[in-house]
Amino acid sequence: MSKILVTGGAGFIGSNFVHLALKDRPDWQITVIDKLGYAGNKASLDDVLDKIEFVKADICDQSAIDELVKNHDHVVHFAAESHNDNSLHSPWPFVESNLIGTFRILDAVRIHGKKLHHISTDEVYGDLELDDPSKFTPETPYNPSSPYSSTKAGSDLLVRAWVRSFGVHATISNCSNNYGPRQHVEKFIPRQITEILEGRRPKLYGTGENVRDWIHVDDHNRAVIDIMEKGKSGETYLIGADGEKNNKDVIEMILENMGQDPSAYDHVNDRPGHDLRYAIDNTKLVAELGWQPVYTDFESGLKATIDWYKANEAWWRPTKEATEAKYKELGR
Ligand code: NAD
Ligand code: DAU
Repeated sequence: MSKILVTGGAGFIGSNFVHLALKDRPDWQITVIDKLGYAGNKASLDDVLDKIEFVKADICDQSAIDELVKNHDHVVHFAAESHNDNSLHSPWPFVESNLIGTFRILDAVRIHGKKLHHISTDEVYGDLELDDPSKFTPETPYNPSSPYSSTKAGSDLLVRAWVRSFGVHATISNCSNNYGPRQHVEKFIPRQITEILEGRRPKLYGTGENVRDWIHVDDHNRAVIDIMEKGKSGETYLIGADGEKNNKDVIEMILENMGQDPSAYDHVNDRPGHDLRYAIDNTKLVAELGWQPVYTDFESGLKATIDWYKANEAWWRPTKEATEAKYKELGR
């Protein structure tokens, strides 16, 4: 039996990871550590709390991390401040959780000789032009744009240094934009779905030409399990499912699928430094680990996500008003 420590397991991707792992790896013993910050929601784990251990703690807390890492075999590190817009007006929590928090985990993993899988983002590579046929590969130079992406880039570099200098066993994955259930309503897709459910119009930043490479959260997490089991220490794997779409098309698809006029959205202030396009070349993951996405039809994955938000108002309602109040201050 493997003992797995999941950091950030009350967040969007981490909680979906816990649900998937309980189903696909029933022999794993899972502990979640999460500080339950504004994006952490214990309700995302309500139905599995009897099957896991849950620890409310901060990954920057050295003694809490040391004790937990000592008692597990493999750490999968999702915990981070994750929202670009927040990082633009309040960067310090990003430095704290993403850099100092990752440092605490790395040092505990080094001291106790445990394995680490570090979850990162394609945003460390900066952005691509809209008419550029190329995609991000593991060889693309780091060129992050925002305080969020620069702290994630810094955390990746810490992991690489701990592998090379101290022989820590660690893998890294950089994934594109995830969608699916249990995603905070500050993020693009859940924000628009819940705005429509509230009887308001979706909000598109700028012209909406910006392209994101969408992947279903379960496809991301299946790749994470593959890397934990078959990945080579020191290697970086890019995770993406060829899901490029511009924001305008996604908003129109959401509106249509919710029975609305597809042009019934508003253009709002653009995000400063807004990355134009992300695109992942997943060749290494497919060729070396045999991973394949299951959700190859974005529209049906999106429909299922809309249905989840319709059926789970009690989950998103408590965070909706405060989220929109923050956006109002930014004129977005
Ligand atoms: P999220 O904001 O939904 O969840 C993050 C979780 O981490 C929250 O539960 C929060 O409480 C917890 N957390 C934050 N700081 C903490 C700390 N100091 N101590 C303990 N817990 C802390 O984010 P997400 O979208 O689930 O992202 C998870 C990871 O995946 C992040 O590392 C993010 O950079 C990465 N990622 C996200 C995407 C995406 O599309 N959402 C894509 C690629 C990579
Ligand atoms: O690429 C991976 C990254 O994807 C992750 O590392 C981040 O944690 C995750 O938040 C996501 O970053 P983005 O900035 O791409 O995601 P966000 O959901 O904030 O926005 C997606 C796109 O939609 C982006 O181009 C901005 C735009 N947008 C966003 C919101 C909230 C809008 O047009 N309107 C909105 O209301």
